[in-house]
Amino acid sequence: MKQEQLGDRISKILYSEEQIERRVGALAEQIAGDYGDRGFAADSKGRPILLVGILRGALVFMSDLARRFPMPVEYDLISISSYGNGTAPGAVRLVKDLEKPIGGRDVLIIEDIIDTGFTIEYLKRSFAARNAASVRVCTLVDKTVRRETPVEIDYIGFTLEEDAFIVGYGMDYAELYRNLPFIGVLKPEFIR
Ligand code: PRP
Repeated sequence: MKQEQLGDRISKILYSEEQIERRVGALAEQIAGDYGDRGFAADSKGRPILLVGILRGALVFMSDLARRFPMPVEYDLISISSYGNGTAPGAVRLVKDLEKPIGGRDVLIIEDIIDTGFTIEYLKRSFAARNAASVRVCTLVDKTVRRETPVEIDYIGFTLEEDAFIVGYGMDYAELYRNLPFIGVLKPEFIR
C-alpha cells in the first residue's frame, strides 16, 4: 500500500508552485525597480538594503525572493512570538533579535503572511525606534479577514480574503507542511 504523502492532507491548492514562482519574480522586479538603481549605495554609508526575515515562516519566501534580485542585499533574521491567552491582545515578545544595529539602514521586512497585523505593527515601531532610515514591508500573503490593527504593506504577493487555514511554502500547522512547494488549505481532519 502506498504511504501517505504530505500533500495528501491538502484539500485545495490555493497558490501553485508556478503561480508562486511568477509572483515572486514579479515582486522581485518591482522591489528592484524601487531600490535597485542604487545598488551598493542604497544608504548614506553605501550599504545595500537589509532584508529582515521573520522566523520561521518567511524563510522559504525570503530565500527565493533574495535570489531573484539583481542588486546586492544583506539579510538578517528575527524571531517574534505572540503571548498566550490572558495577556493584552496583540502583545508580542522578541525571541531572537537582529545580529546588528540597523541605524541608518534601509530595511525591508519579509513576511510569509500578515494576519492580525500585530507582528508587523510591533516590528515597524521597534525598527523606527532604532532609527532605521526606512522600513518597508513585503508579504507573500496578505490575509485581510482577521486584521485587527491597520498596517501599511508595501509589497503584496497574494491577497487572501477567505478565512482559510493555509499551509506550505514556509507556513505550518504544528510545525508541519512548511516544506510543501505550494500553498494550500489543510483538510479539517488534520487540524486538532
Ligand atoms: C506567523 C507569520 C507571521 C505572523 C503573522 O508566524 O509568519 O510572522 O504569524 O501574524 P499576525 O499578523 O497575526 O501577527 P507564526 O507565529 O505562526 O510563527 P512561524 O513563522 O514560526 O510559523
